[in-house]
Amino acid sequence: SKSKVIFSGIQPTGIPHLGNYLGALRQWVKLQETESDDTRLLYSLVDLHAITVKQDPRQLRQWRHESLATLLAIGLDPARSIIFHQSDVPAHSELMWILSCTASVGHLSRMTQWKSKLALPENAKPLDSPLQLGLFSYPVLQAADILVHQATHVPVGEDQSQHLEFTRSCATGFNHLYGDVLTEPETILSPAKRVMSLSKPADKKMSKSDTNYKSRILITDSREEIQRKVKTAVTDSIDGITFDPINRPGIANLVTIMQYLLEDELITPEELVKDIPTKSALKDRVTDVIDAHIEPIRERFNKLMSPDDRDYLIDVAEEGAEMAITSAEETMKKVRDAIGF
Ligand code: ADP
Ligand code: NA
Repeated sequence: SKSKVIFSGIQPTGIPHLGNYLGALRQWVKLQETESDDTRLLYSLVDLHAITVKQDPRQLRQWRHESLATLLAIGLDPARSIIFHQSDVPAHSELMWILSCTASVGHLSRMTQWKSKLALPENAKPLDSPLQLGLFSYPVLQAADILVHQATHVPVGEDQSQHLEFTRSCATGFNHLYGDVLTEPETILSPAKRVMSLSKPADKKMSKSDTNYKSRILITDSREEIQRKVKTAVTDSIDGITFDPINRPGIANLVTIMQYLLEDELITPEELVKDIPTKSALKDRVTDVIDAHIEPIRERFNKLMSPDDRDYLIDVAEEGAEMAITSAEETMKKVRDAIGF
């Protein structure tokens, strides 16, 4: 049997928020602790994905640096995990082109994220819209990210399930034409499926791209920032506290965040809110729980961002790139050979 390979990625488009952390990043660290030494772990800062929307070069450079610091701050260990910038490994782009030649336009156009982007400029017909090709085809790049390392398992949040399904279809499509070269990966869904926006808890997930910065809590936020954002989190006008995701999505989101952080499967959300009388008491409690969890991350992040650690971060990125190139080339040799290059 093939050896186990775990791959996942995050866009370096700002400091990760609690949704990223609970939906994906915390799982990455856990896998590092629980997987045997034979399992290869690869975690990528997917900067080629970041430019599907307009980026300022100086800002992007800063974000790449900060994002690497956050991955180390949450506890990823470069001696155990291959941590790298996607654009340092050209094979990701090469395999993307190759997969594009067998990928289905129909399948891509059914992607929820694409359809929500299409709806953005109101009344714009698809052909008149200013949307870029990269925004449409980025699931193919995501498939290449995963397949180029022969990943067997991909830990992601629920919002990525559809893209993983597409990734498997890319592998099948390629293998059908060229022989059994690429591995179909399994999705590892984290128990924290979906963290919602603090400002639109009923219908928007917490996201880096939300223009309202109070809609998300960053894993490096100070206690004061956490407090301020939780205080302005949208709830409802019903008295008291009950856990009712349908009718009280704002309260339910705060309780769920708290439950995910506490990680006590024996305590139900209903039990968690039993002794909390008011919204302000709930918000105080949520602030305490979040702060207690992210305080060590924040401290390590601040240290890693100091000028003293600059060279260390550059070394980590260089070593990560070298190992990721080796991993990708193992696959690309087989891919090129199968195609006839
Ligand atoms: P964002 O959507 O904030 O730009 P990314 O697209 O870079 O974040 O996603 C990085 C990882 O974080 C993915 O595995 C994704 O599933 C997960 N993720 C993002 N937002 C959430 C959320 N609100 N709840 C749970 N997981 C999330
Ligand atoms: Na996203």
